[in-house]
Amino acid sequence: MIKLSRLSEESLQILLSEALDFANGKTVKAKSDVFVANLFFEDSTRTKVSFEVAEKKLGLHVVNFDEKKSSINKGETLLDTVKTLDAIGVDLVVIRHQKTRYYDELKETPIGIVNAGDGVGHHPSQGLLDLMTMVQEFGDVKGLKIGIVGDIKHSRVANSNAHTLRRLGAKVFFSGPREWFDEGSLMNGTYMDLDALIPEVDVLMMLRIQHERHDERVNLKPEDYLKKYGLTKDREARMKPNAIIMHPAPINRGVEVDNDLVECKRSRIFKQMKNGVFARMAILKSVLEKKGFEFE
Ligand code: CP
Repeated sequence: MIKLSRLSEESLQILLSEALDFANGKTVKAKSDVFVANLFFEDSTRTKVSFEVAEKKLGLHVVNFDEKKSSINKGETLLDTVKTLDAIGVDLVVIRHQKTRYYDELKETPIGIVNAGDGVGHHPSQGLLDLMTMVQEFGDVKGLKIGIVGDIKHSRVANSNAHTLRRLGAKVFFSGPREWFDEGSLMNGTYMDLDALIPEVDVLMMLRIQHERHDERVNLKPEDYLKKYGLTKDREARMKPNAIIMHPAPINRGVEVDNDLVECKRSRIFKQMKNGVFARMAILKSVLEKKGFEFE
């Protein structure tokens, strides 16, 4: 599972349905031994921990792999690392990497790969957990107006979400600093001024400034960013009555979202994190079933 856009709409709906079933209490376990390694070359809290919880809930064996102590630091390539894990008996690897499309160099490996985020590329498990959060809320995303606001250009979350949501019939709008908006994103949505966008949308998805992917340090005071491009209390008061706030997190409180709004009634931010486990269970099960493993 490299990106959601590689799935047919039917496969995406099956994955979504399975994730929702897990959220509603469905449990399954692998019928045989399955070994999984999580390779996180870029920092993570939510994705790494929820993949591990998902793996344990599915009865998989989670193999310890410490990137900082691995032979990658002696010059071994990512390809040789993955081939080594395959030879040792690991059946599936979950990889997060700062390099966009790191997976291109792993094409020839027989081992199952789940992309946990590649540079500014894709974040399919985040896309699925965001989709299921919206479906739980509204029943369907078709016809919904969704605003994605912030550092669009450097966000793999924006990339995965915008494509998937548009494909499923939602109307996607972008906002935020114009210089952090890639015109290439226009095929998946429309750019709007933030204050015009706020009263229109059913879902407002705020994004973190991806400092680690900027060539230069962003020179804007947090309070200035919030005032210009963030979700302030004034803006929240102008949202539709049933509109919800989302954020993939980590959040910089008081920068992209006012501190008091992170836990407000409209916020689904911690619900997204909870759903992360169920979305990842569905993804792992789907990839393993394609490799011939069975669940009961
Ligand atoms: N949303 C997300 O990917 O969070 P982490 O970087 O903490 O995994």
